[in-house]
Amino acid sequence: MDFTVKSGTPEKQRSACLVLGILEARHLSPAAEKADEAAGGFITQLLRRGDMDGKLGQTLLLHNVPNLAADRVLLIGCGPSRELGDSQFRKIIAKAATTLNDTGASEAVSYLAELPVKGRDTAWKVRQTVESCEDALYRYEQTKSKKDETRRPLRKLVINVAERGELAGAEAAARTGMAVAAGIKLTKELGDLPPNICTPSYLADQALALAKRHKALKVKVLNTSDMEKLGMGALLAVARGSEEPPKFIIAEYRGGKKGDKPVALVGKGVTFDSGGISIKPAAAMDEMKYDMCGAASVLGTLAAIAEMKLTINVVGLIPATENLPSGLATKPGDVVTSLSGQTIEILNTDAEGRLILCDALTYAERFDPVAVIDIATLTGACVIALGKHASGLLGNHPPLLHALLNAGKDTGDRAWELPLWEEYQESLKTNFADMANVGGREGGTITAACFLSRFTKKYHWAHLDIAGTAWVTGEKKGATGRPVPLLAQFLMQRADGGK
Ligand code: BES
Ligand code: MN
Ligand code: ZN
Repeated sequence: MDFTVKSGTPEKQRSACLVLGILEARHLSPAAEKADEAAGGFITQLLRRGDMDGKLGQTLLLHNVPNLAADRVLLIGCGPSRELGDSQFRKIIAKAATTLNDTGASEAVSYLAELPVKGRDTAWKVRQTVESCEDALYRYEQTKSKKDETRRPLRKLVINVAERGELAGAEAAARTGMAVAAGIKLTKELGDLPPNICTPSYLADQALALAKRHKALKVKVLNTSDMEKLGMGALLAVARGSEEPPKFIIAEYRGGKKGDKPVALVGKGVTFDSGGISIKPAAAMDEMKYDMCGAASVLGTLAAIAEMKLTINVVGLIPATENLPSGLATKPGDVVTSLSGQTIEILNTDAEGRLILCDALTYAERFDPVAVIDIATLTGACVIALGKHASGLLGNHPPLLHALLNAGKDTGDRAWELPLWEEYQESLKTNFADMANVGGREGGTITAACFLSRFTKKYHWAHLDIAGTAWVTGEKKGATGRPVPLLAQFLMQRADGGK
């Protein structure tokens, strides 16, 4: 979709649709007031008659409003003004986007960015308008024979801002929003694709295709024999049961100065997790196609920052494999040697994410990174602990965790810290190797991070467990594109601060 910004008075907009906010109860937003004045109190009259009281998410589509240059007016309920915060604003935009998409208007002018949102400036509202709009209008289509049947979908949104002086900032914010939205979309598409299409090789091809589109991005893909030579015994142990060859994707974005140390993003790329020999129950096993959403979020974030031309160096590392049972598959009790040299007793082949990540985390050392962030749908325990609203966050460097938590707050893509205390390490003890790959049932998200922490001693590191946030189930089942907004925001702030 196309987004532009403008500053003009509502009654004069020649557009297929004007989008105006109505606050509860029956309170016109400033832009709605102006339009109402020009229309001789037409909107006030409707509200008085009880057609709309401004409850959050209410909509009313009007035609032939007198004295307005626009063909239609879409009124959106915004709730009471004192409650208008980040999440309310996002809901308002999403509702406006889906409603517009169902009208005959393929283009519209929105005055919603002028709404007062607590603690947020115009740039934030413009960027959120773009991101929430794209998020609401995303439809998965790649493997459907019948495409979306919307007759005249929304193609262009003009975002109006109150003052001409805000235009430059608003334009930059819209461009940022479009770049991040494109990254989110890529992440959703990869997540939603079926596992017979989205294989490790497919992910590698997507990374290579992305590098073709951006000069600053270079991609290299390691195959099984490269990994054998390096000694990635943990990653290879997971791949053993599968016919699909594993891939290790290295994507280097060079937007910063030559000597600037990169931030490394490491994404779990299990394109299907059956559990392996420790096989999962059949119910909802299809959802384990989403077990590559960490990898997808790394590619989505790289796409976003490359589009924004961020002045920062970032390296994406993606260990990609399936986790399947077979006669060759790794068995519970097998001991393998990781790239770090540490040995691991694999007591549960379903704890495969940490096995592929540990070798990628060791590999990250060679880039001498300023910080390493791994992103993984790592534990069911995280879904139980935090549900779908917050990603789990653990790590070894408080300032890094702090910056990530803040990036989450700014974007509504929130994370919540869990403790990574020494005491939890004990659960990984075994008599037969340096460590086991599972602790007990208790504190599963934490003991998984404990495992990873043994491979991240040489740098500042944070781990995002996105098992609960990467996709939603139910009627709207699908990938969410998280945590691309958080990661993109974190990198934007680092690029700014680094200047
Ligand atoms: N990919 C799963 C984690 C997962 C489970 C994500 C459910 C989203 C929903 C991971 O590989 C896994 O199987 N983890 C095990 C670890 C256990 C064996 C220690 C889990 O969480 O049950
Ligand atoms: Mn698993
Ligand atoms: Zn998994």
